[in-house]
Amino acid sequence: EFSWKLKDHPKLPKGKTIAMVVLDGWGEAKPNQYNCIHVAETPTMDSLKNGAPERWRLVKAHGKAVGLPTDDDMGNSEVGHNALGAGRIYAQGAKLVDIALETGKIYNGEGFKYIQESFENGTLHLIGLLSDGGVHSRLDQLQLLLKGASEHGAKRIRIHVLTDGRDVLDGTSVGFVETLENDLAKLREKGVDAQIASGGGRMYVTMDRYENDWDVVKRGWDAQVLGEAPHKFKNAIEAVKKLREIPCTNDQYLPPFVIVDDNGKAVGPIVDGDAVVTFNFRADRVVMIAKALEYENFDKFDRVRFPKIRYSGMLQYDGELKLPSHYLVSPPEIERTSGEYLVHNGIRTFACSETVKFGHVTFFWNGNRSGYFNPEMEEYVEIPSDCGITFNVQPKMKALEIAEKARDAILSGKFDQVRVNLPNSDMVGHTGDIEATVVACKAADGAVKMILDAIEQVGGIYVVTADHGNAEDMVKRNKKGEPLLDKTGNIQILTSHTLEPVPIAIGGPGLAPGVRFRKDVPSGGLANVAATVMNLHGLEAPSDYEPTLIEVVDN
Ligand code: 3PG
Ligand code: CO
Repeated sequence: EFSWKLKDHPKLPKGKTIAMVVLDGWGEAKPNQYNCIHVAETPTMDSLKNGAPERWRLVKAHGKAVGLPTDDDMGNSEVGHNALGAGRIYAQGAKLVDIALETGKIYNGEGFKYIQESFENGTLHLIGLLSDGGVHSRLDQLQLLLKGASEHGAKRIRIHVLTDGRDVLDGTSVGFVETLENDLAKLREKGVDAQIASGGGRMYVTMDRYENDWDVVKRGWDAQVLGEAPHKFKNAIEAVKKLREIPCTNDQYLPPFVIVDDNGKAVGPIVDGDAVVTFNFRADRVVMIAKALEYENFDKFDRVRFPKIRYSGMLQYDGELKLPSHYLVSPPEIERTSGEYLVHNGIRTFACSETVKFGHVTFFWNGNRSGYFNPEMEEYVEIPSDCGITFNVQPKMKALEIAEKARDAILSGKFDQVRVNLPNSDMVGHTGDIEATVVACKAADGAVKMILDAIEQVGGIYVVTADHGNAEDMVKRNKKGEPLLDKTGNIQILTSHTLEPVPIAIGGPGLAPGVRFRKDVPSGGLANVAATVMNLHGLEAPSDYEPTLIEVVDN
């Protein structure tokens, strides 16, 4: 008989205030000049590492340990926070789409059958991130889907590409567009009318998240749906090459463009009767466009036209909103997350970050589900992010504000768990600006200090960890680990996440003296953290959770 009630932990008391701090993009790597965490002054994190060896360790944050297809897959915030919050390892979107494509099951599913109804008289539009980053989407999946869709009746296909440079090296967009153009040429030989119709950089067009800046989505809408953009080209390879020449532009921030025919007419606006698929498997950066494509009533920007289309996501992106209602592949069924258990066991939770990471400690943490489990037991606070900037110009971001909110929540006595995400090392790391990333790491460290001080005051416990690596290595390396140079002799900046493990530290005056990390879970990963935190709340974890990282020895 299932029960939400968790057993009391045999040795650990209830009632301690716990700070659960997630440093975004803070991995552990060799100390060198490209390790911004090492270069930065980070006295707080250093003291945790050098303080008590039995209460600091590394955990896996990439590959199979977080449900990704292979151990060559770097970690990311979605899978990292899913694992932290759910306490178990789920085959993630990337993997589920791989399986659905390999087995061909994708073409028998409800979502595909639904869009297929448009193939006879309409166009199939595919919108998504064009790279092999494997964080939001993968090129090989797009290639298989293109082939499969054409074999299953799509006669006219238009692709709306979003260039990356964030999960992959900047400048790689050109090669990805070339590869795609090659595939499309082959399809055309087979009689399928297939073309790239529009494009733009992921951070400037379409892929905003958590409703930070609807203008980003609108720019995409104008190009993809209305066929309007400031830049018009006859050829997508030329478009990307030319737009990259604009000073200060890069793959992440390419302005929107549309492809036009000889008469200057856009080749692929979205019109009544068409089918549309957003081919990203990861949710956060396509939820907004999904709303624009799906909702009859929508007031975030003027859509001008709202075509009657058949829209399907690669996955269903939001389990609570059931958005979108049609999808090609069923998402991982992440259920009974630690957050849901906690509200059933009297644990009052406060969660906070700034907009660009807010959903990480709420939506992702709770298994891709928006909203509260029980608003009487939970409070989620979002600090508005600065809009329309690259965070290297503001590397401190809202770290201080987040820490102040956490401090106040801890001191208020109203919460048992105070959970935050500190975005700096990740968001600034993604800009590839090494100097700014050093400043970012220092700012995050200062925020940790403020939170630990509050925990000290209330006699609480802290758990400090990260969701994946980023700022600890800012250079692309060869197999031997040596920095790679580009043609001009400069190092190749790594804007993406890494394969590195992340630290976890526990402590604070409320921690029972005999608590230490067990030695028998050496390959522990982020999914082991949920049981650990439940124990620190004085509760036994559910039996199907990944094992706790801690034990209590009698002194
Ligand atoms: C992004 O969406 O910003 C990057 O692709 C991944 O970063 P995140 O996983 O840290 O959010
Ligand atoms: Co990131």
